[in-house]
Amino acid sequence: MATQDKYCFERNKKESERLDIQHRVLVRTSGNTLIHPSIPIEEIRSVADIATGTGIWLQDVSKSLDTPQIERYYHGFDISSEQFPENPGAIQFSVQDLTVPFPREHWGRYDLVHVRLLVAALEESDYQATIANVYDILKPGGYLQWEEIDEETYRTKGYPVFNELHRCFDYGLTAEGKCFRASAKVYEESRAAGFVGVERLCYNSHQNPDLRYEIEERLTAIIRTLYAFLLLRSGQVDTAQVASQEAEKLVEEHRRLCAQGNSPPLKLMRVVGRKPLHESLL
Ligand SMILES: C[S@@+](CC[C@H](N)C(=O)[O-])C[C@H]1O[C@@H](n2cnc3c(N)ncnc32)[C@H](O)[C@@H]1O
Repeated sequence: MATQDKYCFERNKKESERLDIQHRVLVRTSGNTLIHPSIPIEEIRSVADIATGTGIWLQDVSKSLDTPQIERYYHGFDISSEQFPENPGAIQFSVQDLTVPFPREHWGRYDLVHVRLLVAALEESDYQATIANVYDILKPGGYLQWEEIDEETYRTKGYPVFNELHRCFDYGLTAEGKCFRASAKVYEESRAAGFVGVERLCYNSHQNPDLRYEIEERLTAIIRTLYAFLLLRSGQVDTAQVASQEAEKLVEEHRRLCAQGNSPPLKLMRVVGRKPLHESLL
């Protein structure tokens, strides 16, 4: 039997568009902090974005950091090149599985490593090696910023559609050995790997009422993609047609509740930490 692809989303044009729109919403949810304010951007010369997808975060970071006086280096990595931009400009892109060590040329090279949205891709047993691989490519004193939409989002009380999404994602991801509590896992594993000053932060889109309509649309997109996909792949329904019908029923319920003013928040989880400047000899 062929090995089942661990990834849960398509890699076509429509999915690339979904990722790019979602990126804008996530950045606004975080109060327009592409890079967490505790990270001193004046010290950042080289940036890696792992599981980069379309490279949208890296492209925005390169625009926001670039100044004529300082030369910076940007590198996006992903297990698949299918969604890399056609015109990457000065940004480098490479195929790399995050769960295996990077080529030596990348070790100790980056001031900042960013990772986002791997909850539906990584198995629970992958996190330890993954964090070790990120550690290896950071310079001493370099920063990690890892962001997820995970269990924390869907366990927000008072939103019936979240109850169903939580049930389905918990069942579907656990069935595949994945970890729904991804940001908590990243927090634990990065501390265990020796990162210092590790913090796990939560941004709530309800802080910005202007985001309400866009969040409603993003959740609709998640129901039509991840929810329908996991219903089918974990055997909760028998056919793609039934999965799609169930997803549309949930979309209808979501829209009905939103129209009544019960519009759910999106919670973005962010873990930041720093590789020590000096390695401990213990
Ligand atoms: C949901 S997308 C997020 C893309 C991007 N980080 C963003 O936030 O827009 C997840 C990405 O992770 C990539 N991916 C999945 N498993 C991976 C692995 N083991 N190593 C590197 N990339 C991986 C997928 O190919 C996909 O591009």
